[in-house]
Amino acid sequence: MTALYWDPFDTTIDLDPYPLWRRMRDEQPVYHNDKLAFHALSRHADVEAATRDPRTYSSAYGTVLEIMTAEPMRTGMMLFMDPPEHTMLRTLVSRAFTPRRISLLEGYVRTLCAELLDPLTGEFDYVQDFAVQLPSRVISELIGVDPADREEVREEIDRAFHIEEGKGIINDVAIAAMARLHTYFREQVEARRKSPRDDLMSALVQAEVPTGDGARRLTTAEAADFAGLLVSGGTETVARLLGWACVLLAAHPAQRAELAADPSLLRNAVEEILRYESPSPVQGRTLTRDVLLHGTTMPARSKVLLLTGAANRDERAYADADRFDIHRRFDGHLAFGLGIHFCLGAALARLEARVGLEETLRRFPVWEVDHERAARLHSSTVRGYDKLPIAV
Ligand code: HEM
Repeated sequence: MTALYWDPFDTTIDLDPYPLWRRMRDEQPVYHNDKLAFHALSRHADVEAATRDPRTYSSAYGTVLEIMTAEPMRTGMMLFMDPPEHTMLRTLVSRAFTPRRISLLEGYVRTLCAELLDPLTGEFDYVQDFAVQLPSRVISELIGVDPADREEVREEIDRAFHIEEGKGIINDVAIAAMARLHTYFREQVEARRKSPRDDLMSALVQAEVPTGDGARRLTTAEAADFAGLLVSGGTETVARLLGWACVLLAAHPAQRAELAADPSLLRNAVEEILRYESPSPVQGRTLTRDVLLHGTTMPARSKVLLLTGAANRDERAYADADRFDIHRRFDGHLAFGLGIHFCLGAALARLEARVGLEETLRRFPVWEVDHERAARLHSSTVRGYDKLPIAV
């Protein structure tokens, strides 16, 4: 038996981490990587308990291994905050980011899918031509980007996800694009303050929560940071989810045929795809105290990676966990996290995936993936396809 080594940056391991994740769950449920100095939890019960305990497992030092810091980050992004700051911000944005606002987008998502899919025939790249386009346009619509600015904003969003060999997601092109997006959102937020419209940005500046001596509203910087978080959290992940769906359904043609015949099965199928190939399988935390788990002490200030993707394949939680089954009955999965940081965009992601797949299957009930020419995208938090040529 070879020594157990897992590393989120190893592109070969990332192709199929599941055998290693199984060994980690069985042999070293508190894994330690000496080279990169982190612990990792992979069992469902442990990952779930940790996500529900933000006092011990802090997000304030960053949650993405590439950019985790020794001191709290203070970025203004709620993903990287602990209570009470997180609670206040999440309550405020939840006033604007309502299920109703999301459900109103269904018609728009469907029209957009038609616009993107109708011109495609023969051979095309499902990820580049469809899966990455859909979420960035939906986010622009949601935020309330002017139609005249949409193309430019979409290109900036693309650049914000530029990945450089050896540097990964943190590179000059991506940082400059994020900064320009932030400036754009600041200007837009300021404009909405002066003349509100019926859009998320206006709702964001109007939302307020009562405080002891009045009410608290979002500052311009906070609202712009939040718009930036929506862009970064809501684009990459949905693109990977649709890519995984395309690959999994091609590998399971009988299940694909069932979905094409009965789109009402898609809701559950989307949950199974999220469980089976979690687009964001690793969430970082920093310990605020010593933790003793399975006989190992993880000291305070340790970086701990919560392997939600491994937890979702834990046979302790799911029968025959490595089997892909769109009819699987299960209570839930960890692909959107849990607890206070539970994905704010989960309803939107589910909507985009369900409608995106329904519109795909309606036009192309059968396709084949060209695995030779497919390419993966690598970062420590997002896992999936960057290029996915298919023939319909
Ligand atoms: C399949 C698609 C998606 C996946 C797999 C996903 C996954 C996640 C996960 C795992 C978390 C928790 C992170 C943690 O605990 O550290 C999270 C948080 C978050 N997600 Fe998503 N996400 C998706 C789509 C979206 C979309 C479409 C949006 C926005 C429109 C979004 C916005 C957010 C935000 C704002 C948070 C931070 C919530 C907080 O800190 O309270 N996500 N997401």
